[in-house]
Amino acid sequence: MNVQTRRLTVQNNGIAEAAQLLAKGALVSFPTETVYGLGADARNGAAVAAIYQAKGRPSFNPLIVHLASAVDARTYVEWSDTAEILATAFWPGPLTLVLPLKEDHGLSSLVTAGLDTVALRVPAHPAAQALLATFNGPVAAPSANPSGRISATTADHVMAGLSGRIAAVLDDGPCAVGLESTIVGLAGETPTLLRAGGLPQEAIEAALGTPLATTNGLDITAPGQLSSHYAPAARVRLNATKAQPGEVLLGFGPMTCDLNLSPGADLVEAAANLFDHLHRLDAMACPIAVAPIPDRGLGRAINDRLKRAAAPR
Ligand code: TXA
Ligand code: MG
Repeated sequence: MNVQTRRLTVQNNGIAEAAQLLAKGALVSFPTETVYGLGADARNGAAVAAIYQAKGRPSFNPLIVHLASAVDARTYVEWSDTAEILATAFWPGPLTLVLPLKEDHGLSSLVTAGLDTVALRVPAHPAAQALLATFNGPVAAPSANPSGRISATTADHVMAGLSGRIAAVLDDGPCAVGLESTIVGLAGETPTLLRAGGLPQEAIEAALGTPLATTNGLDITAPGQLSSHYAPAARVRLNATKAQPGEVLLGFGPMTCDLNLSPGADLVEAAANLFDHLHRLDAMACPIAVAPIPDRGLGRAINDRLKRAAAPR
């Protein structure tokens, strides 16, 4: 597909235009508090197929369905007490729940990649909320980046990766969280952390009163779990305290470097800057060295993304 990708804004009737485009089966990128999503009507098979095509994504990877409210979730999935606890505590917000599909759910089977579960999320970003309420239906949306590349946290990132392949991007500034949602599986015996993300594992465990099970990494139900993912074009070296000749250094905490995720060593600020800083350093076309990041709270999700960015490919 080669189209002129429009840049819509909330101020200029962009919500209504974006909702109309979605209703016509077109692809619209929209901001969430985590990253920009690439949205399509989740009931429209052709529209969902166009997402996979625009991203160049392997078609067996299922997508997250975005909803305006937790009440809507019951239309599509078998709700549970655990789902209720987590939805009450964290929706709207950076949490995705994987739940068993109901019969007659009406979602395109391309969204679920033929699984008997679906990933649901109620985003908190006001523009996402307004778009979902206006569209008044389920919106399938992976992160708005070409498959395997760095996620987009600004409309400029979206345009750099997908311009010409999607109808529009709803530009409402940079994403506050900057990391994809945390994914928790609720379809099995015990709640399971499927992907570390913008909501710290510790917060979820506190709400549940029990630890989350973790996956062994062999069971690839999420492409964020593929070893090479979130990857800049340049080589990435982790736990670096200094740049080697020719490298650019991405810092954390007080240090001399080319770009710093958070000079004050704040993990929330580092998460919000992560993908933007990787995009910027990638544009310099040099190998990237990255300073050590503490492995707690959001640091775990940051380290997960960095490990995948550094994985051999
Ligand atoms: O923050 C986010 O989650 C962003 C914004 C746009 O909402 N979306 C996002 O989507 O990161 P995506 O497609 O890049 O990642 C969705 C993840 C994938 O790793 C996918 O495999 C997993 O969710 N997933 C989707 N449905 C699933 C299911 N039924 N079971 C297990 N994992 C599932
Ligand atoms: Mg992604």
